[in-house]
Amino acid sequence: MYPSIDRGFPDKLSSGAVQKGLTTEWLGQQPIFCFGVVETTNIEANRLAREGRPEGTLVVADAQTKGRGRLRRSWVSPPGTGLYLSVVLRPTCAPDRFPALTLTAGVATAAAIQQMGLVPQLKWPNDILISGKKVGGILTEAVFDKKQIDFAILGIGINVNTAAEEFPVSFRNQATSLRLSLGKPVSRVALLQNLLIKFEHYYGLFSEGDFGSIIHSWSELDSTLGREVEVSLPESRLLGVAEAVEPDGTLLVRDKTNRLHRIVAGDVVHCRTAPLTVDRSPFTE
Ligand code: BTN
Repeated sequence: MYPSIDRGFPDKLSSGAVQKGLTTEWLGQQPIFCFGVVETTNIEANRLAREGRPEGTLVVADAQTKGRGRLRRSWVSPPGTGLYLSVVLRPTCAPDRFPALTLTAGVATAAAIQQMGLVPQLKWPNDILISGKKVGGILTEAVFDKKQIDFAILGIGINVNTAAEEFPVSFRNQATSLRLSLGKPVSRVALLQNLLIKFEHYYGLFSEGDFGSIIHSWSELDSTLGREVEVSLPESRLLGVAEAVEPDGTLLVRDKTNRLHRIVAGDVVHCRTAPLTVDRSPFTE
C-alpha cells in the first residue's frame, strides 16, 4: 500500500521512549496506548473515553488505515513517518467554547514545530502550514450529554518524515513534511514530547477560560487574517476578507457589501492577500 522508504534512523514510538525525560505534569504521564496500526486513533480514544479513562489518556499509532480529517476527508497516515495521536479530554467549559479547543491545539502544535527549528503558520480553523503547504491538522470531536460536553477527542496529525512520494499525487503541491521543510529527519519522539508539553500549557489556559491569551498566540501564528478568503458553508459559498478570530474561535469575515459574517465551521480557502479596509475593497469590479 505504501512505498518502502529507508529513513536512515530508527524512530520507534513506544510508551517508554515517549515518557523517558518527559517533563509534563500530567499529560502523557499515565500509560500511553501505543499501537502499530489502527483504523484511526480517534476511534481508539473514543472507546477508551467511553470506558471511563481519565482526561489526558493518550493514544498514538505508527500508522492509520482510515485516518480521518475534517469534513469527512481522509488523513494519509503511512507507517514510520508521521505523528498520529488522540487525547481524551473532559473539558468543563460551555459547549459554545468548544471550537476554541481546535485553535488551542493548533497553537500548541505550531509551538512544538517551532522548537524543531521551523516557522509554522496556522490557517483557520485547523491547518498547520509551512511555507503555505499543509504539514499538520487537528480534528476535535465532542460527545455531548444533556447539552454539556461529556468528553472530547483531540486528534492531531503531523507529517514528520514523510517523503514527497508518500503523498497522493494530487496533494503533492499542497502538502509538506517537517523533514522536507528542514532538509533532515526529525525525531517523532522528541516532537511528541514537545507537543505534550506545549499542549498541557495551552490547555491549562483553555481550562482557566483564558481564551484571550490563546487567541493572541493564535493571531501571531495566523496566515488567514487580512486575506481575501472563500468560505465553503453547508449551503453556500462566501467571499470576503477575514477580519478577526473571536475568543470562542469564530472567524469574522466581511463581504463586499460590508456585512460581517460569523463563521463557526466551514472550509476556508485563501485567495490572495487583501487589505483589511473595506473602502479599498478587493471585490470592486
Ligand atoms: C484535518 O486536517 O482535516 C485534520 C487531520 C487530523 C488527523 C489526525 S491523525 C490522528 C487523529 N486520527 C485521525 O483519524 N485523525 C486525527
